[in-house]
Amino acid sequence: MTTTAESIAPLHAEMTAWRRDLHAHPELGFQEARTAGLVAQRLESFGIEVVRGVGRTGVVGTLRAGTSGRAVGLRADMDALPIAEANAFAHRSRHAGLMHACGHDGHTAMLLGAARHLAQTRRFDGIVHFIFQPAEEGLGGARAMIEDGLFERFPCEAVFGMHNRPSLGVGRFAVRSGPMMAGGAFFDIHVTGRGSHGARPEAGVDSALVAAQIAVSLQSIVARNVAPLQSAVLSVTRIQAGDAYNVIPQSASLGGTVRAFSRDVMRLVEDSMRRVAAGTAEAFGARAELDFRELFAPTVNHPEEAEFAARICTELVGAEQVERQPPLNMASEDFSYMLERVPGCYLNIGNGGAEGGCEVHNPGYDFNDAALPLGAAFFARLVETRFPARGAAAVA
Ligand code: NI
Repeated sequence: MTTTAESIAPLHAEMTAWRRDLHAHPELGFQEARTAGLVAQRLESFGIEVVRGVGRTGVVGTLRAGTSGRAVGLRADMDALPIAEANAFAHRSRHAGLMHACGHDGHTAMLLGAARHLAQTRRFDGIVHFIFQPAEEGLGGARAMIEDGLFERFPCEAVFGMHNRPSLGVGRFAVRSGPMMAGGAFFDIHVTGRGSHGARPEAGVDSALVAAQIAVSLQSIVARNVAPLQSAVLSVTRIQAGDAYNVIPQSASLGGTVRAFSRDVMRLVEDSMRRVAAGTAEAFGARAELDFRELFAPTVNHPEEAEFAARICTELVGAEQVERQPPLNMASEDFSYMLERVPGCYLNIGNGGAEGGCEVHNPGYDFNDAALPLGAAFFARLVETRFPARGAAAVA
């Protein structure tokens, strides 16, 4: 007998309570002390071996059943965002200016539910590493765990991660092979001119004018350097120069973000930006330096693991509830770094349909608890199917 959303339903009330407690106590990346503590305590109470402090505030739980040495990694993220919550319900954030606006509270509760269920039932032959990752929201939590030896200390033949999607109804999944989400970088360009009196431009080099020219010229990169059938986004989201009305500023800066679905396109954009920034500045007698920081690799699913995840989803909810060609998303996800190390798949679980439901990163967002049993069932069934218990066929 393999797990279904119905067979895991007895844990629904408990998962909901965990999820709402996490929602009420959001913590930013690498500050998830309370969250990580609760996760570790609960895993231990299920009889699961726990290692704390993997990648600073990360937690890994390991469950073994049978005799097989094959292992799979299941990953949830734990961090919240610096957003002031607009909701008024009882489980709203108790921490001013912080909230779980991306549903990581739900991801953590679903993986804990799967851990509890698998520890109780143990209908598999192999090893599961439950990976509770800190700091997914641009602070490098996945990389911190990897650099702390995640896959050397807890070797996995495959790794799976799941994120809620409010635009997808509860009871549905979306999964595809290949690119799923874009890679992302943040950049700053520092322009140095020569300050002078606002009425005597001939005595200076106007860094504000140079910054404006660079902002315009950067827009030629996606339009003219990236091949039309590739995609990329380059957004200048901040420009700063000067403090006075009568001073031509000595220096100026621009900042923003770049997104692309491949490492090659990301590199092309970065190289082009360096050339455009330096060359434009030089044309005006100024200097410009680009600081380009890649924060997220493109999230690219491996074909076999994507097929396997889709099969589990189909068994749980039926083929018509599984979107196999979901639209590409220019947002980013740092599970991408785990997928660069170990074959695996990142998928979406439907979280829409709740009253007042809205997109993630909105101050009115709340994870829809109706999705909890299905998410937990996905993880549990994945383990049972990948590592069948000896004699399972005869029992089934
Ligand atoms: Ni998220």
